Amino acid sequence: MNVHATTHEELAAEIGDRFDTDAMAQESTLLNPRFYTTDFDELDRIDVTPVRDEWDTLIAQMKSDPNKGHFKKNADWDKVDWDNMEPKLKREFIDFLVSSCTAEFSGCVLYKEMKRRGNNPDICELFNYMARDEARHAGFINDALREAGVAVNLGFLTKAKKYTYFRPKFIYYATYLSEKIGYARYITIYRHLEANPDKRFHPIFKWFREWCNDEFSHGEAFALLMRTDPKLTESFANKLWIRFFLTAVYSTMYVRDHARPAFHEALGVDIDWYDQEVFRKTSEIAKQVFPMELDIDHPRWMPNLKRMEHAFRKIEAAEKTGGVAGKMAKFTAGASAAWAFVALYTIPVKKSTPPASVRLEPAY
Ligand SMILES: [Fe+2]
Ligand SMILES: [Fe+2]
Repeated sequence: MNVHATTHEELAAEIGDRFDTDAMAQESTLLNPRFYTTDFDELDRIDVTPVRDEWDTLIAQMKSDPNKGHFKKNADWDKVDWDNMEPKLKREFIDFLVSSCTAEFSGCVLYKEMKRRGNNPDICELFNYMARDEARHAGFINDALREAGVAVNLGFLTKAKKYTYFRPKFIYYATYLSEKIGYARYITIYRHLEANPDKRFHPIFKWFREWCNDEFSHGEAFALLMRTDPKLTESFANKLWIRFFLTAVYSTMYVRDHARPAFHEALGVDIDWYDQEVFRKTSEIAKQVFPMELDIDHPRWMPNLKRMEHAFRKIEAAEKTGGVAGKMAKFTAGASAAWAFVALYTIPVKKSTPPASVRLEPAY
């Protein structure tokens, strides 16, 4: 799909959104995908000269569009029996698809906006290709949801959702990580189902390998962007920010995945195992640009992830209770989630030295 739209509404229409709003995608809580906005002028001033060779290679690869024909249903798309799917699994799986679709679309909106506001030809070209990919991803998930009688009204989403402002460097850290973690998540599920095909309860998982290669190369682009300015990864303050983003992204993923027990059980995946596996792959990849990795085998790691997850479940329950009792319970649980976060954030990191050449190829 070529993205020609100039407004978010047109963009949503191009992606193929024709159905009613799904309430799930509008919820704006701490754990749901967000929409971002940034200082587009600062971003436009980036000069990729220091990484020119690697940059040109990556852009040429994106331009060649290896996944051009991939995101289409074909004979591999088995019929899905939505009506007879176990209700809890169905609810969690739809929730998984909706939040994935929202995340893909929020990437698409951000990249599209960067392309639209930019004058720097390198930046515009990159974000054009990335918006193209994310539009395809969101559209493909939306197709799958449509079969279940659900579709995310993407045009409505961009109007109804709150936008979070992030300085460009925070966009790099957060987006780099979300692209690489996206790769690690998709490839881990793909490999698991390759070994256990009887657990593949929906055909969309068959599309994950090529899909995750798109996310991998998006992550590569942000790695190169960060390499254009050594301060971004080397200054003392920025190292603390990187630790913060690593901890926040990993712990958020842990809490969200644990909210979908039936989905993971159907896949035959132990959530703790899966999350640790995804963290391990992401950390290994992120050494290409970050001078550290989190110590996910530290004795404080798992217990505090669990503590955080319990605290979030209590927050949810307190919100349902409401009233003064609910507010107090929510405050207490919020404090314990914050403490768990501090305990995770202060685990000593494993320092490393990023290699001279930043580029990586997908290896899992
Ligand atoms: Fe994507
Ligand atoms: Fe992506």
